[in-house]
Amino acid sequence: MLNYLKDNMKCKMIVVILLMSFCIGNAQQLKSPNEKFLLNFSIQENGTPQYDLTYKNKVIIKPSKLGLELKDESMSLQKDFIITNAKNTSFDETWKPVWGEVKTIRNHYNEMAVTLQQKSSGRIMIIRFRLFDDGLGFRYEFPEQKNLTYFVIKDEKTQFAMAADHTAYWIAGDYDTQEYDYTISRLSEIRGLLSKSVTQNLSQTSFSNTGVQTSLLLKTDDGIYINLHEAALINYSCMHLNLDDKNMILESWLTPDAKGDKGYIQAPSTSPWRTIIVSDDARDILASKMTYNLNEPCKIEETSWIKPVKYIGVWWEMITGKSSWSYTNDYPAVILGTTDYAKAKPNGTHGANTAHVKEYIDFAAQNGFDAVLVEGWNIGWEDWFGHSKEHVFDFVTPYPDFDVVGIRDYAKSKGIKMIMHHETSSSTRNYERYMDTAYKFMKANGYDAVKSGYVGDILPRGENHYDQWIINHYQYAIEKAAKYKIMVNAHEAVRPTGIARTYPNLIGNESARGTEYQAFGGSKANHVTILPFTRLLGGPMDYTPGIFEMDISKLNPDNKSHVNATIANQLALYVTMYSPLQMAADLPENYKRFPDAFQFIKDVAVDWDDSKYLEAEPGDYITVARKAKGKDNWFIGNVNGYNSRTSTISLDFLDAGKKYSATIYADAKDAHYKTNPQAYSIKKMMVTNKTQLSTLSVPGGGYAISIIAMDN
Ligand code: NOJ
Ligand code: CA
Repeated sequence: MLNYLKDNMKCKMIVVILLMSFCIGNAQQLKSPNEKFLLNFSIQENGTPQYDLTYKNKVIIKPSKLGLELKDESMSLQKDFIITNAKNTSFDETWKPVWGEVKTIRNHYNEMAVTLQQKSSGRIMIIRFRLFDDGLGFRYEFPEQKNLTYFVIKDEKTQFAMAADHTAYWIAGDYDTQEYDYTISRLSEIRGLLSKSVTQNLSQTSFSNTGVQTSLLLKTDDGIYINLHEAALINYSCMHLNLDDKNMILESWLTPDAKGDKGYIQAPSTSPWRTIIVSDDARDILASKMTYNLNEPCKIEETSWIKPVKYIGVWWEMITGKSSWSYTNDYPAVILGTTDYAKAKPNGTHGANTAHVKEYIDFAAQNGFDAVLVEGWNIGWEDWFGHSKEHVFDFVTPYPDFDVVGIRDYAKSKGIKMIMHHETSSSTRNYERYMDTAYKFMKANGYDAVKSGYVGDILPRGENHYDQWIINHYQYAIEKAAKYKIMVNAHEAVRPTGIARTYPNLIGNESARGTEYQAFGGSKANHVTILPFTRLLGGPMDYTPGIFEMDISKLNPDNKSHVNATIANQLALYVTMYSPLQMAADLPENYKRFPDAFQFIKDVAVDWDDSKYLEAEPGDYITVARKAKGKDNWFIGNVNGYNSRTSTISLDFLDAGKKYSATIYADAKDAHYKTNPQAYSIKKMMVTNKTQLSTLSVPGGGYAISIIAMDN
């Protein structure tokens, strides 16, 4: 009997041990530090890795497959895997960004690195999961090994299986541009909407009738916000998401290169992080720093030359068609067989002429701006759409009416920095060839920031704007600029993925629909209530706010566009659209017409010690308060969507016992983005940390408040 019991026990123990090793072998779990998130990882029967994610016990990601298909089909990295190791660790650090919304950022996560081995080939792939208190990041790692040295990706097969037909805030899948208005719809409605009106605006390279771009925001019916994006997009192609709208499964869809390949990988190497930020409070999504945290720490040793910039520019006048980038309408390089532009006939509308640039420098100096951007200063604009497209710009030869040295000296005498413009015309190899010369030319002439641009098809091979080849170009430009101590603001480049943590000289990007579209026909009035939930999570945007004249025909009678915003809304953007690079985009003459409203743009800070997200609902409203760097001054911005709304906030974040002087720039009662956008009121009052404020925001409106500490 005893022996029987002993044997039975032994048997049971072996079963338990076997079961345990089975569990450890095939299924792994990870919790976030706050235990609100639970990640399950396992291997399916055919050896395909899979994961799922819950938040507060609610399913966020249903079981979803992981892996990659390779061009060499005998080498699939999607099946036949077993788990050979799983290592759990924790990490907690606090780091200081060079510029930012807050003074310090906490990077706190639990990590699980699962080593997978393919049974037949012995190939090894690691999937590294990092679970933060605000979401999950994971990536593929390809360690150095004999039988996986070099491969070409056919497609990445990462799935994000949704639990239901959520509301999505989306822009259409496109390999070349993100410059779209957002559509708010159910996931199941995307196919129908894409095949109708939305597709009419798509560039040639839209990729499917259910494809959308990241960063994608979703909202569940029970009020959970989910953001899908990527972090640290380096030497890999940009991820879009294709939707299986029968099963509500979003799947990664990488941007192909000119040959159709989706990535050339040489081990050791890693993919970017795939990110899932989640909260039942929309404000947490805005405050999340997970994307930055998944990037490497700063690689620039000495960063004192990287400075936030408030600037004006010879720009809006060209965007609206009031003046031209080009000095001449002829094609001197071709017609005259020479680049002697002095022989060309001036068209009389060239914005970047010395006298006019000096007016901007004067205006900047008088109103406390740091810098002036000038576009259309260099030869080539008249030739861009005509002839030698591939070599159109050399980035060092000014038009005859732009006196580089005179402007350099004049700006210096007024304490103003100049911002260089490099429109590459997407001839990226041409730009790379000129880059050293161009950056040296900038430094010699007092420029330490460049706005680069990538308009048009990528030359020479017809790459897509978001494929690996050109992503490496954008990165090369940032790193090369850092060597010259140059700050970069790249337009039409890939949307950012937190790389500014590593290279904080990347002080801005466009990579979304900016204010320029207000002069190209208009944008949705609630666009700015969505961007901070999507595009801005990867890094700041050079949105170019501050338009006071909404009727563009007043600047250019041929342009009938209307800016869909009130003046108060435009002021709020300096706070709601976080960027260390902020433009006052309108013309000086329009600011002179509204000096009292312009005062807010003059006063508002561009670098911050703290940020409080007071109210938020994507598509409807965002209210943010930020504390100016090194000062006891606060600035508040509220942007509003299509419905009138009273925003009620408490100023309890102010220091107790202190008095502050507040100036409130609000929509007038009868203001409206379309019919009465210039109606605002300005009120001054004394406030403390006990003050509650209720302020009306009209459709497409908002309010801005400056709160300045009074000497006690
Ligand atoms: C598009 C950019 O977004 C805009 O800012 C720039 O002025 C033009 N391209 C010309 O380079
Ligand atoms: Ca653009």
